[in-house]
Amino acid sequence: MILSLEVIFEVSELRRIVEGWKSEGNTVAFVPTMGALHEGHLALARQAKSENVKVVVSVFVNPLQFGPSEDFARYPRTLKDDIEKLKTVGTDAVFAPSAAEMYPADFQTSIHNKGMATVLCGKVRPTHFDGMLTVVAKLLNIVNPHYALFGKKDYQQWRIVERMVRDLGMPFEIRGCDTVRESDGLAMSSRNRFLAEEERVQAALIYEGLTAAKKAWEKGQRSLEVLLTAFSQIIARCPKMTVQYAQIVDRYTLLPPAGAAPDNGLVMIVAILFGDVRLIDNLEF
Ligand code: PAF
Repeated sequence: MILSLEVIFEVSELRRIVEGWKSEGNTVAFVPTMGALHEGHLALARQAKSENVKVVVSVFVNPLQFGPSEDFARYPRTLKDDIEKLKTVGTDAVFAPSAAEMYPADFQTSIHNKGMATVLCGKVRPTHFDGMLTVVAKLLNIVNPHYALFGKKDYQQWRIVERMVRDLGMPFEIRGCDTVRESDGLAMSSRNRFLAEEERVQAALIYEGLTAAKKAWEKGQRSLEVLLTAFSQIIARCPKMTVQYAQIVDRYTLLPPAGAAPDNGLVMIVAILFGDVRLIDNLEF
């Protein structure tokens, strides 16, 4: 499918187009991204398109969600390529604002989550989720879609966005979509391109480890410690990989179960360091 695609850089222009679509009775879906698009992003746009709606994809590398020593400068910026890919899945509009359009010099407001954003990735990236929420809130307000799609690969992000929308009474539906994986199980990520060839092969251990833990769970193992050890033992096969964290938590609160592990409603979430490349993944139990 190759259709014409509007590429929009200004907030006012995007609002005008979306309002026009809505006045003609269209439903509007929104996929926020930072570009460097891969099959995981395209699957979100494709899924929305299959529901016969207008699809807006944003491409904006949000400086607010990177810490001072993180990879903002080297984060891949591939807008031309992204546009070509989005054409193939029938996206109706790409919103690619500049940093000045999103954050004029006198910008001074931000969104703060004081709970779920402080665990898991939030412990090692203390400013990340507030920066992410601030841009997502702004993008949702600009695009004003009926619903927005988030990949479950960024599980904590998805849940925190759901919570923001609920806490602040924002009129948007937030949908979580299944993680898209490479054939060896590695979750697709814009950061996979930073892995050397050999590392890329070894990175498949992350999904192997998650799967081993899930299999043990399915066989009745309920000790979280045993399950986490099953994961770590598989990661330990590659000395270059370190487990930054691995936890089994409630799918909604992102906190470990208080007493005995329940039979469902949990998710195992992990972050792995491969040199200076950080990969995250998860599996629902
Ligand atoms: O998941 C991402 O790519 C980003 O965190 C998002 C949601 C586009 C906000 O910048």
